[in-house]
Amino acid sequence: MKLGHSLMKHFLQFKDLRAEEYSYLFERAAIIKRRFKNYERYQPLVDRSLAMIFEKASTRTRVSFEAGMYQMGGSVVHLTSGDTQLGRAEPIEDSARVISRMVDLVMIRTFEHARLERFAAHSRVPVINGLTNEYHPCQILADVFTFIEQRGSIQGKVVAWVGDGNNMANTWLQAADILGFTLHISTPRGYELAPHLGEVSNPACVKTFNSPFAACEGAHLVTTDVWTSMGFEAENAARQAAFADWCVDPQMMSLAQSDALFMHCLPAHRGEEVAAEVIDGPQSVVWDEAENRLHMQKALMEYLLLGRIG
Ligand code: CP
Ligand code: NVA
Repeated sequence: MKLGHSLMKHFLQFKDLRAEEYSYLFERAAIIKRRFKNYERYQPLVDRSLAMIFEKASTRTRVSFEAGMYQMGGSVVHLTSGDTQLGRAEPIEDSARVISRMVDLVMIRTFEHARLERFAAHSRVPVINGLTNEYHPCQILADVFTFIEQRGSIQGKVVAWVGDGNNMANTWLQAADILGFTLHISTPRGYELAPHLGEVSNPACVKTFNSPFAACEGAHLVTTDVWTSMGFEAENAARQAAFADWCVDPQMMSLAQSDALFMHCLPAHRGEEVAAEVIDGPQSVVWDEAENRLHMQKALMEYLLLGRIG
Protein backbone atom coordinates (compact mmCIF):
# COMPACT_ATOMS: atom_id res chain seq x y z
CA MET A 1 0.00 0.00 0.00
CA LYS A 2 1.18 3.49 -0.82
CA LEU A 3 0.12 6.53 1.17
CA GLY A 4 0.00 9.91 -0.56
CA HIS A 5 1.70 11.44 2.49
CA SER A 6 4.39 10.40 4.95
CA LEU A 7 2.58 9.90 8.26
CA MET A 8 0.12 7.05 8.75
CA LYS A 9 -2.87 8.01 10.91
CA HIS A 10 -5.61 5.87 12.37
CA PHE A 11 -9.07 7.22 13.26
CA LEU A 12 -9.97 5.24 16.38
CA GLN A 13 -11.32 8.03 18.59
CA PHE A 14 -12.45 11.57 17.90
CA LYS A 15 -9.41 12.87 19.77
CA ASP A 16 -7.10 11.27 17.19
CA LEU A 17 -7.38 14.37 14.99
CA ARG A 18 -6.90 18.05 15.81
CA ALA A 19 -9.36 20.93 15.44
CA GLU A 20 -7.65 22.26 12.34
CA GLU A 21 -7.77 18.82 10.73
CA TYR A 22 -11.51 18.76 11.38
CA SER A 23 -11.89 22.20 9.77
CA TYR A 24 -10.16 20.82 6.70
CA LEU A 25 -12.28 17.66 6.68
CA PHE A 26 -15.59 19.54 7.00
CA GLU A 27 -14.62 21.79 4.07
CA ARG A 28 -13.51 18.79 2.06
CA ALA A 29 -16.75 16.88 2.75
CA ALA A 30 -18.74 19.88 1.49
CA ILE A 31 -16.72 19.88 -1.76
CA ILE A 32 -17.06 16.12 -2.20
CA LYS A 33 -20.80 16.28 -1.50
CA ARG A 34 -21.33 19.12 -3.98
CA ARG A 35 -19.49 17.24 -6.74
CA PHE A 36 -21.49 14.10 -6.02
CA LYS A 37 -24.78 16.00 -6.17
CA ASN A 38 -23.71 17.45 -9.53
CA TYR A 39 -22.93 13.94 -10.86
CA GLU A 40 -19.26 14.87 -11.25
CA ARG A 41 -17.03 11.80 -11.25
CA TYR A 42 -14.30 12.03 -8.61
CA GLN A 43 -12.14 8.92 -8.37
CA PRO A 44 -8.93 9.59 -6.43
CA LEU A 45 -8.86 6.08 -4.95
CA VAL A 46 -8.64 3.95 -8.10
CA ASP A 47 -6.78 0.70 -7.28
CA ARG A 48 -7.20 1.26 -3.53
CA SER A 49 -9.17 -1.19 -1.45
CA LEU A 50 -10.92 -1.03 1.89
CA ALA A 51 -11.54 -4.04 4.14
CA MET A 52 -14.66 -3.61 6.27
CA ILE A 53 -14.83 -5.91 9.28
CA PHE A 54 -18.20 -6.15 11.00
CA GLU A 55 -18.48 -7.98 14.31
CA LYS A 56 -21.85 -6.26 14.91
CA ALA A 57 -24.79 -5.47 12.61
CA SER A 58 -24.90 -2.33 10.46
CA THR A 59 -26.92 -0.62 7.75
CA ARG A 60 -25.61 2.96 7.48
CA THR A 61 -21.96 2.27 8.21
CA ARG A 62 -21.76 -0.54 5.70
CA VAL A 63 -23.60 1.24 2.90
CA SER A 64 -21.80 4.56 3.38
CA PHE A 65 -18.30 3.06 3.42
CA GLU A 66 -19.01 0.60 0.63
CA ALA A 67 -20.79 3.05 -1.70
CA GLY A 68 -18.28 5.78 -0.83
CA MET A 69 -15.26 3.65 -1.69
CA TYR A 70 -16.77 2.56 -5.04
CA GLN A 71 -17.74 6.15 -5.87
CA MET A 72 -14.11 7.19 -5.33
CA GLY A 73 -12.90 4.48 -7.73
CA GLY A 74 -11.79 1.93 -5.15
CA SER A 75 -13.13 -1.42 -4.04
CA VAL A 76 -14.19 -3.07 -0.79
CA VAL A 77 -13.93 -6.42 0.93
CA HIS A 78 -16.76 -7.10 3.38
CA LEU A 79 -15.89 -9.40 6.28
CA THR A 80 -17.84 -10.55 9.31
CA SER A 81 -16.80 -12.67 12.28
CA GLY A 82 -19.33 -15.29 11.13
CA ASP A 83 -17.62 -15.98 7.84
CA THR A 84 -13.93 -15.40 8.60
CA GLN A 85 -11.39 -16.95 10.93
CA LEU A 86 -12.00 -14.01 13.30
CA GLY A 87 -15.04 -15.94 14.49
CA ARG A 88 -12.91 -19.03 15.02
CA ALA A 89 -10.51 -17.40 17.45
CA GLU A 90 -7.69 -16.40 15.10
CA PRO A 91 -5.86 -13.73 17.11
CA ILE A 92 -6.86 -10.21 16.11
CA GLU A 93 -3.15 -9.32 15.85
CA ASP A 94 -2.58 -12.04 13.23
CA SER A 95 -5.68 -10.95 11.34
CA ALA A 96 -4.37 -7.38 11.33
CA ARG A 97 -0.96 -8.42 10.03
CA VAL A 98 -2.51 -10.42 7.18
CA ILE A 99 -5.41 -8.18 6.13
CA SER A 100 -3.29 -5.04 6.20
CA ARG A 101 -0.79 -6.58 3.74
CA MET A 102 -3.59 -6.96 1.21
CA VAL A 103 -5.64 -3.75 1.38
CA ASP A 104 -4.97 -0.03 1.76
CA LEU A 105 -7.42 0.82 4.52
CA VAL A 106 -9.41 -1.06 7.17
CA MET A 107 -12.68 -0.15 8.90
CA ILE A 108 -13.74 -2.19 11.91
CA ARG A 109 -16.97 -2.36 13.92
CA THR A 110 -16.47 -4.43 17.05
CA PHE A 111 -17.13 -4.76 20.76
CA GLU A 112 -14.35 -3.64 23.17
CA HIS A 113 -12.37 -0.64 21.96
CA ALA A 114 -9.20 -2.46 23.11
CA ARG A 115 -9.82 -5.04 20.37
CA LEU A 116 -9.76 -2.28 17.73
CA GLU A 117 -6.58 -0.87 19.26
CA ARG A 118 -4.91 -4.27 19.11
CA PHE A 119 -5.79 -4.51 15.43
CA ALA A 120 -4.48 -1.01 14.74
CA ALA A 121 -1.23 -1.70 16.60
CA HIS A 122 -0.48 -4.53 14.18
CA SER A 123 -1.79 -2.92 10.99
CA ARG A 124 0.39 -1.59 8.19
CA VAL A 125 -2.45 0.59 6.94
CA PRO A 126 -4.79 3.19 8.48
CA VAL A 127 -7.62 1.80 10.60
CA ILE A 128 -11.01 3.50 11.06
CA ASN A 129 -13.36 2.89 13.98
CA GLY A 130 -16.77 1.96 12.58
CA LEU A 131 -18.17 1.76 16.16
CA THR A 132 -16.96 0.12 19.34
CA ASN A 133 -18.70 -0.23 22.69
CA GLU A 134 -16.88 2.95 23.75
CA TYR A 135 -16.80 5.25 20.68
CA HIS A 136 -18.47 6.03 17.35
CA PRO A 137 -16.32 8.80 15.84
CA CYS A 138 -17.51 8.49 12.21
CA GLN A 139 -21.06 9.23 13.36
CA ILE A 140 -20.06 12.36 15.27
CA LEU A 141 -18.07 13.55 12.25
CA ALA A 142 -21.26 13.34 10.17
CA ASP A 143 -23.35 14.91 12.94
CA VAL A 144 -21.09 17.94 13.34
CA PHE A 145 -20.89 18.32 9.54
CA THR A 146 -24.69 18.27 9.43
CA PHE A 147 -24.89 20.92 12.15
CA ILE A 148 -22.42 23.14 10.25
CA GLU A 149 -24.40 22.75 7.02
CA GLN A 150 -27.62 23.78 8.74
CA ARG A 151 -26.48 26.35 11.28
CA GLY A 152 -22.81 27.30 10.69
CA SER A 153 -19.97 26.80 13.16
CA ILE A 154 -20.66 24.60 16.19
CA GLN A 155 -18.09 26.49 18.27
CA GLY A 156 -19.70 28.09 21.33
CA LYS A 157 -22.97 26.22 20.84
CA VAL A 158 -24.77 23.88 23.26
CA VAL A 159 -25.46 20.24 22.40
CA ALA A 160 -27.84 18.36 24.73
CA TRP A 161 -27.35 14.62 25.10
CA VAL A 162 -30.40 12.86 26.55
CA GLY A 163 -30.04 9.17 27.40
CA ASP A 164 -27.39 6.53 27.73
CA GLY A 165 -23.77 7.37 28.59
CA ASN A 166 -22.74 5.22 25.65
CA ASN A 167 -20.35 5.21 22.68
CA MET A 168 -22.13 8.20 21.11
CA ALA A 169 -22.10 10.22 24.33
CA ASN A 170 -18.40 9.51 24.92
CA THR A 171 -17.61 10.68 21.41
CA TRP A 172 -19.74 13.84 21.69
CA LEU A 173 -17.70 14.68 24.78
CA GLN A 174 -14.40 14.39 22.92
CA ALA A 175 -15.83 16.49 20.10
CA ALA A 176 -16.98 19.20 22.53
CA ASP A 177 -13.48 19.37 23.99
CA ILE A 178 -11.75 19.58 20.60
CA LEU A 179 -14.23 21.73 18.65
CA GLY A 180 -15.12 24.17 21.45
CA PHE A 181 -18.80 23.62 22.19
CA THR A 182 -20.59 22.68 25.42
CA LEU A 183 -22.18 19.29 25.99
CA HIS A 184 -25.18 19.15 28.33
CA ILE A 185 -25.60 15.55 29.36
CA SER A 186 -28.42 13.86 31.24
CA THR A 187 -28.39 10.11 31.82
CA PRO A 188 -30.38 7.96 34.23
CA ARG A 189 -28.52 7.09 37.41
CA GLY A 190 -26.24 4.11 36.77
CA TYR A 191 -25.84 4.92 33.06
CA GLU A 192 -23.44 7.87 33.33
CA LEU A 193 -20.31 8.20 31.17
CA ALA A 194 -17.54 5.95 32.46
CA PRO A 195 -15.17 8.41 34.20
CA HIS A 196 -12.02 7.18 32.44
CA LEU A 197 -13.71 7.76 29.07
CA GLY A 198 -14.68 11.29 29.97
CA GLU A 199 -11.19 12.72 30.21
CA VAL A 200 -11.16 16.17 28.64
CA SER A 201 -8.61 18.96 28.53
CA ASN A 202 -11.32 21.58 29.19
CA PRO A 203 -13.66 20.44 31.99
CA ALA A 204 -15.98 23.38 31.25
CA CYS A 205 -16.99 21.74 27.96
CA VAL A 206 -19.39 19.40 29.78
CA LYS A 207 -22.25 20.01 32.22
CA THR A 208 -24.25 17.17 33.72
CA PHE A 209 -27.93 17.36 34.65
CA ASN A 210 -30.19 15.01 36.58
CA SER A 211 -33.19 16.23 34.61
CA PRO A 212 -33.23 15.70 30.83
CA PHE A 213 -35.50 18.76 30.60
CA ALA A 214 -32.87 20.94 32.27
CA ALA A 215 -30.23 19.56 29.91
CA CYS A 216 -32.25 20.70 26.90
CA GLU A 217 -32.68 24.29 28.10
CA GLY A 218 -31.10 26.66 25.60
CA ALA A 219 -29.60 23.87 23.49
CA HIS A 220 -28.86 24.44 19.79
CA LEU A 221 -28.97 20.71 19.14
CA VAL A 222 -30.79 17.96 21.04
CA THR A 223 -29.66 14.42 20.40
CA THR A 224 -30.22 10.94 21.76
CA ASP A 225 -29.70 7.28 20.95
CA VAL A 226 -31.20 3.87 21.69
CA TRP A 227 -31.59 2.86 25.33
CA THR A 228 -29.89 -0.46 24.66
CA SER A 229 -26.83 -0.49 22.43
CA MET A 230 -25.57 -3.51 20.53
CA GLY A 231 -23.83 -5.90 22.88
CA PHE A 232 -25.96 -4.87 25.89
CA GLU A 233 -29.15 -6.72 24.96
CA ALA A 234 -29.15 -8.76 28.18
CA GLU A 235 -29.77 -5.51 30.09
CA ASN A 236 -32.77 -4.54 27.99
CA ALA A 237 -35.52 -5.03 30.59
CA ALA A 238 -33.68 -3.04 33.26
CA ARG A 239 -32.89 -0.31 30.75
CA GLN A 240 -36.51 0.01 29.61
CA ALA A 241 -37.46 0.81 33.20
CA ALA A 242 -34.51 3.09 33.98
CA PHE A 243 -34.78 5.19 30.80
CA ALA A 244 -38.56 5.76 30.78
CA ASP A 245 -38.18 9.51 31.52
CA TRP A 246 -35.38 9.98 28.96
CA CYS A 247 -37.59 10.24 25.88
CA VAL A 248 -37.03 13.33 23.73
CA ASP A 249 -40.56 14.64 23.27
CA PRO A 250 -42.05 17.95 22.07
CA GLN A 251 -41.99 19.38 25.60
CA MET A 252 -38.25 18.75 25.89
CA MET A 253 -37.65 20.27 22.45
CA SER A 254 -39.67 23.35 23.44
CA LEU A 255 -37.07 24.14 26.13
CA ALA A 256 -34.25 24.22 23.59
CA GLN A 257 -33.57 27.18 21.24
CA SER A 258 -36.53 27.84 18.97
CA ASP A 259 -34.43 26.79 15.95
CA ALA A 260 -32.80 23.83 17.70
CA LEU A 261 -32.09 20.76 15.59
CA PHE A 262 -32.82 17.17 16.56
CA MET A 263 -30.39 14.39 15.65
CA HIS A 264 -30.29 10.63 16.18
CA CYS A 265 -27.62 8.36 14.74
CA LEU A 266 -30.29 5.72 13.91
CA PRO A 267 -31.67 3.10 14.12
CA ALA A 268 -34.35 4.73 16.29
CA HIS A 269 -37.16 3.37 18.43
CA ARG A 270 -40.11 5.77 18.24
CA GLY A 271 -41.92 5.92 21.57
CA GLU A 272 -38.77 4.96 23.52
CA GLU A 273 -35.82 7.37 23.31
CA VAL A 274 -37.67 9.75 20.96
CA ALA A 275 -41.30 10.63 20.29
CA ALA A 276 -42.48 10.16 16.70
CA GLU A 277 -43.52 13.86 16.58
CA VAL A 278 -39.90 14.85 17.20
CA ILE A 279 -37.99 12.47 14.93
CA ASP A 280 -40.55 12.94 12.15
CA GLY A 281 -41.06 16.64 12.90
CA PRO A 282 -39.65 19.84 11.36
CA GLN A 283 -36.63 20.16 13.68
CA SER A 284 -35.33 16.69 12.88
CA VAL A 285 -32.41 16.39 10.46
CA VAL A 286 -31.88 12.65 10.87
CA TRP A 287 -32.04 11.83 7.14
CA ASP A 288 -29.46 14.46 6.22
CA GLU A 289 -27.40 13.21 9.15
CA ALA A 290 -27.50 9.65 7.80
CA GLU A 291 -26.70 10.76 4.24
CA ASN A 292 -23.76 12.78 5.46
CA ARG A 293 -22.07 9.62 6.70
CA LEU A 294 -21.35 9.00 3.00
CA HIS A 295 -19.85 12.38 2.15
CA MET A 296 -17.97 12.79 5.43
CA GLN A 297 -16.37 9.34 5.30
CA LYS A 298 -15.31 9.89 1.68
CA ALA A 299 -13.43 12.96 2.92
CA LEU A 300 -11.97 10.92 5.80
CA MET A 301 -10.80 8.07 3.56
CA GLU A 302 -9.29 10.53 1.10
CA TYR A 303 -7.44 12.24 3.95
CA LEU A 304 -6.11 9.06 5.53
CA LEU A 305 -4.88 7.72 2.17
CA LEU A 306 -3.85 10.82 0.22
CA GLY A 307 -3.36 13.53 2.84
CA ARG A 308 -4.50 17.07 2.07
CA ILE A 309 -5.67 17.83 -1.43
CA GLY A 310 -4.64 21.11 -3.02
N1 CP B 1 -25.67 5.04 12.87
C1 CP B 1 -25.09 3.88 12.49
O1 CP B 1 -23.91 3.65 12.69
O2 CP B 1 -25.93 3.01 11.88
P1 CP B 1 -25.66 1.49 11.52
O3 CP B 1 -25.61 0.71 12.80
O4 CP B 1 -26.82 1.10 10.64
O5 CP B 1 -24.34 1.38 10.79
N1 NVA C 1 -25.20 3.23 20.55
C1 NVA C 1 -25.67 2.42 19.44
C2 NVA C 1 -25.34 3.09 18.14
C3 NVA C 1 -25.78 2.35 16.92
C4 NVA C 1 -25.36 3.02 15.65
C5 NVA C 1 -25.03 1.05 19.51
O1 NVA C 1 -23.83 0.97 19.85
O2 NVA C 1 -25.72 0.06 19.25
